[in-house]
Amino acid sequence: PPPGWIIDADVVVVGSGVAGLTAALRCAAAGSRTVVVTKARLDDGSTRWAQGGIAAALGEGDTPEQHLDDTLVAGAGLCDEMAVRTLVTEGPDAVRRLIASGAQFDVSRTGGIALTREGGHHRSRIAHAGGDATGAEISRALVQAVRTHAPAAPAPAAPDATGAPATGLPQGSIRTVENALVLDLLTSPDDGRTTGVTLHVMGEGQHDGVGAVHAPAVVLATGGMGQVFSATTNPAVSTGDGVALALRAGAEVSDLEFVQFHPTVLYLGREAEGQQPLISEAVRGEGAYLVDADGERFMLGRHELAELAPRDIVAKGIMRRMRERGAEHMYLDARHFGAEMWEHRFPTILAACRAHGIDPVTEPIPVAPAAHYASGGVRTDLRGRTTVPGLYACGEAACTGVHGANRLASNSLLEGLVFAERIAQDIAQGIAQDSTHGDAHEPTLPATESAAAPALTTPLLPASARTAIQRIMTEGAGVLRSGTSLTRAAAQLAALSADTEHKPAEPGVDTWETANLHLVARVLVAAALRRTETRGCHWREDHPERDDAVWRRHLTVSLRPDAR
Ligand code: SIN
Repeated sequence: PPPGWIIDADVVVVGSGVAGLTAALRCAAAGSRTVVVTKARLDDGSTRWAQGGIAAALGEGDTPEQHLDDTLVAGAGLCDEMAVRTLVTEGPDAVRRLIASGAQFDVSRTGGIALTREGGHHRSRIAHAGGDATGAEISRALVQAVRTHAPAAPAPAAPDATGAPATGLPQGSIRTVENALVLDLLTSPDDGRTTGVTLHVMGEGQHDGVGAVHAPAVVLATGGMGQVFSATTNPAVSTGDGVALALRAGAEVSDLEFVQFHPTVLYLGREAEGQQPLISEAVRGEGAYLVDADGERFMLGRHELAELAPRDIVAKGIMRRMRERGAEHMYLDARHFGAEMWEHRFPTILAACRAHGIDPVTEPIPVAPAAHYASGGVRTDLRGRTTVPGLYACGEAACTGVHGANRLASNSLLEGLVFAERIAQDIAQGIAQDSTHGDAHEPTLPATESAAAPALTTPLLPASARTAIQRIMTEGAGVLRSGTSLTRAAAQLAALSADTEHKPAEPGVDTWETANLHLVARVLVAAALRRTETRGCHWREDHPERDDAVWRRHLTVSLRPDAR
């Protein structure tokens, strides 16, 4: 249906986590009329759930070069070094600016920023807030800052009788539109440049709720796609919307096969589905041990950093011991912290465990890996530009190249900050308006077109298909994969769309979300099938070795116009 209302702006930011709100704040500071569109409330995305913290070389004796080294090692040969160098050198000041804008981080006894360790870091460089509530504090501070830019004008006006878009946003203001799912990118028929987005505002009826934001710059900051699996640390809103939108718009996505499974997620039983409570890596950073049911520390001897090895190695260590013992989970033992430390340092985790009848002060915590972070996403250059002119991506929705095959713990909030700031700079400089992608950052590793770039149509699926997608993905494309399991998953996903061919689902938020999950699942499976090696968090049982000769390169996928 035609949009019921239109907002005219300079920039529309889709998503309201650390990346989206930072981009919006910086764009507004540069004078842009900015609109933030978000699917639920401003603080409902993944950022609020981040526990451990934000990594940056802020400590005495630490340097960006050491942070770079740890990031490259975790990324298993697939990071783009220029992107990592940008992240680690611009990171410390970006964190200081975040603090200056009102985020309150925990301080050490000497009055500096308190820093802890997490997996893969050889130094204490994780800044945290509220003990284990870092994301919540960052979200609070950014939402508060965004609210101070709210325009005085009332809600978006309908187009006038001539159909001209409603205007009226003051320069430097940020209008927020909550409970609005972005549907598709609008582009100019002349040159393919971005001209805005269409969106569906929930609770306003199927047609009445469709609107549009017209803007020459669109920033996708929609977060991850953890909901594509049955058990995930991600909130319900993480349905891969930005990646799906970008695919439909013809943008390239990269590295989707690299899904990070967090090693220590509270185990709530085989049937547990949806968002699961995270037990931060910072708990291991402060000295907790991974043990099996006999109390044996099985990570000792597997890696020099034992429980603090990079995340993929710890997840694999847990899975291997679960297999050896025929167990459904392992344990994280931090009884030695004592009640006082648990209460002060990890209040969120303590409360979550107790809410599920487990007291970490007196008993080990049952844990198992669950889907946590999409290292891949919409491919961008160092200024956050995608392959569609005027379309940017940052945060978990993007693939800037900093994570490679496995993200280093607590680099994601930092990536959101740093690259959102770079996008705002690019937009402010007006570069986006008058140049093509030709001068974009070239990755240091060669990219390859996936032979499996699927000829996909993206049907609207009934909301009930969501559970089927999640089960197919967990069984076939989870922490352990093989050619057989992935081929089966691809066929099952294809069958889901075939089922609906004769009875397409009614348009609605649930069905659009399910269609987005379906699209990203199919592309993810195609890439995972194509990458016949084990690297980082992509673990192929039938190809257990890393193959640098063939696979030290990214898989990039874009959909052909006839398949969108
Ligand atoms: C955690 O606190 O373990 C999560 C940190 C991250 O995913 O970077």
